Amino acid sequence: MENEKDSLILSGEETFNVLLNIKDLPSIPKIMLEVQALLRSESHNTVKLASIVGKDHGLTTKILMVANSPLYGLQRKVSSLEFAIMLLGVNEVSNIVTALSLAETMKMNDIYGLNFMSFWKHSMLVGTAAKDIAKRLGFFDLSGDAFVGGMLHDLGIQLTARYFKNQFEKIMESVEKDGLNFKAAEEKYLGLTHQEIGGFISRRWNLPPHLINSLMFHHNPYGAMDSPIVPYIVHIADCMTQKFKIADVHWDEGLEFDKSIINVLKFESEEKFNEFVDDYQSRFEETANAIKF
Ligand SMILES: [Fe+2]
Ligand SMILES: [Fe+2]
Repeated sequence: MENEKDSLILSGEETFNVLLNIKDLPSIPKIMLEVQALLRSESHNTVKLASIVGKDHGLTTKILMVANSPLYGLQRKVSSLEFAIMLLGVNEVSNIVTALSLAETMKMNDIYGLNFMSFWKHSMLVGTAAKDIAKRLGFFDLSGDAFVGGMLHDLGIQLTARYFKNQFEKIMESVEKDGLNFKAAEEKYLGLTHQEIGGFISRRWNLPPHLINSLMFHHNPYGAMDSPIVPYIVHIADCMTQKFKIADVHWDEGLEFDKSIINVLKFESEEKFNEFVDDYQSRFEETANAIKF
């Protein structure tokens, strides 16, 4: 006879079918479309962007918090949306709007094993660190995607918690009580991991390849055949949270820097890479302390 535990187990195919048939899957947020339409128009300017974004007070507060976090690297504090747009530029603010508004569409209450405050701290640290890493490695034109990719890399966790709540709780239970590794627990109950589930929604939203790959390959960036740089950068930032034990989360436990980073991102040696990583620790601490929701 099938017991309760077994009836919750889904194969990868079953999970995928559930995803395909979700009726209330969030669509791209209106504010993100409005901002993108403004960017495509000839006449985009600070005042217009501020008037679109300023309508949403929660979003405005979060934009200022992101811009003022130590890892984001601004030399001065920004206290108004207009000033943030002037200092960061329309494109950078639009990246923050993209990341925050997409993540907001998946927002939900805490459930067993998932505290949204911790989830946000983790996402924000990985996003802001990924942006900084991209710049420090000379990938200036990818720094915006690194930020958005880092902010959204674990979106599959939110999607799992929202649409597979029972399985999610079982996954957390087997991690906490039976000591199962999170990935093994995801595979046991869903036949898929949050990487593949995040990949599903990012394709559904038609996000660019850098972003889709950041969601799909942030634990194993070598799997991203095309556009691997952003997933590699997000992977480094994600691993840093584990290494420093700052805003680290269950689903990243045991995550380690992939050795191929040294070659792909052209670090001189493993020692140089380790020095590069260690240099981030204090800014991780400061940023984690500065994040309050
Ligand atoms: Fe992850
Ligand atoms: Fe993560």
